[in-house]
Amino acid sequence: MSESAPPLAAVQTFGLTRFYGAMAALSGMDLTVNKGDLFGFIGSNGAGKTTTLRILATFLAPTSGRAVVLGHDVVKDADAVRHVIGYMPDFFGVYKDMEVTEYLDFFGACYRIPAAQREKTVSDVLELVGLSEKRGVLIGALSRGMQQRLGLARVLIHDPQLLLLDEPASGLDPRARIEMMEILRELQRLGKTIIISSHILSELETICNRVAIIEKGRLIYSGPVQGVRDQMSQGRVVFVRVASDPAHAMALLQASPEVVEVSALDGRLKVTLASHDTDHSIIAARLVQGGAKLVELREEELGLEEVFMRVTQGETQ
Ligand SMILES: Nc1ncnc2c1ncn2[C@@H]1O[C@H](COP(=O)(O)OP(=O)(O)OP(=O)(O)O)[C@@H](O)[C@H]1O
Ligand SMILES: [Mg+2]
Repeated sequence: MSESAPPLAAVQTFGLTRFYGAMAALSGMDLTVNKGDLFGFIGSNGAGKTTTLRILATFLAPTSGRAVVLGHDVVKDADAVRHVIGYMPDFFGVYKDMEVTEYLDFFGACYRIPAAQREKTVSDVLELVGLSEKRGVLIGALSRGMQQRLGLARVLIHDPQLLLLDEPASGLDPRARIEMMEILRELQRLGKTIIISSHILSELETICNRVAIIEKGRLIYSGPVQGVRDQMSQGRVVFVRVASDPAHAMALLQASPEVVEVSALDGRLKVTLASHDTDHSIIAARLVQGGAKLVELREEELGLEEVFMRVTQGETQ
């Protein structure tokens, strides 16, 4: 029987560490991003997102540890890495008195794309980011959202396989954010691997297939988006309402080995379960078998933002 091949890593870091003076901005990070991922890199201010992306983009050397990008070591093979990545920094200057096409043509020339080919390349990337209509416009006359998209067009000029995007949606209004996310989806469909950082988990929830959450330079979660919720909902809570005596129901629940804690809250019972794997029907069965009249049993729905705050305890540096 043949097994399907494991996905190939686009990025792998091994004990990646970066100090600024005595302060560890990154501590022993082991991160894997697979080819084809639209990967969300999430953390509060000062968590180490920009530091990590700058190391992967070869702009900053790690203090210790290693990072491999599409098979190339970021320190030893920095040139090879630069050819296969497109890095969009969190703050980038655009030349406001240049026209859109001039700007992109300039970067195309920097990447040594032959003049004859550049016009087509520029058209293609403008189309991808939805700026075809703005080709002759001065950059200073573009909206913030359009300038961000132009920044994205710039890093696509040399057709990189991996995009490192540092908060590309920050400062954009909701509509511009959605447009940016749609472009990223399209780029993923075209086969790019994309790492996008943000401090807003819910912003990435719908588009990313995997996320990493970092806090104070440490990786605290890496995996599917759904896994963030699952990991954090250990000892999760269900709410129970009974039509019979609540004190009796409470005593039944307190006697259940699956239950850690029960308290009365707004006419309901708040039940904290011992394990994430506990089946709700056990709780229902305990109540009903004990003679309580169960009328409602509902799991607490945690918003992703709330989960994130629990994961990170809202800490910033
Ligand atoms: N050049 C520097 N010199 C000294 N300390 C730095 C430098 N750059 C970053 N740091 C520190 O390293 C830590 C990580 O910063 P980093 O910019 O990587 O975080 P971030 O997750 O990108 O934050 P933000 O959401 O604010 O962009 C912070 O404590 C920051 O103050
Ligand atoms: Mg940053």
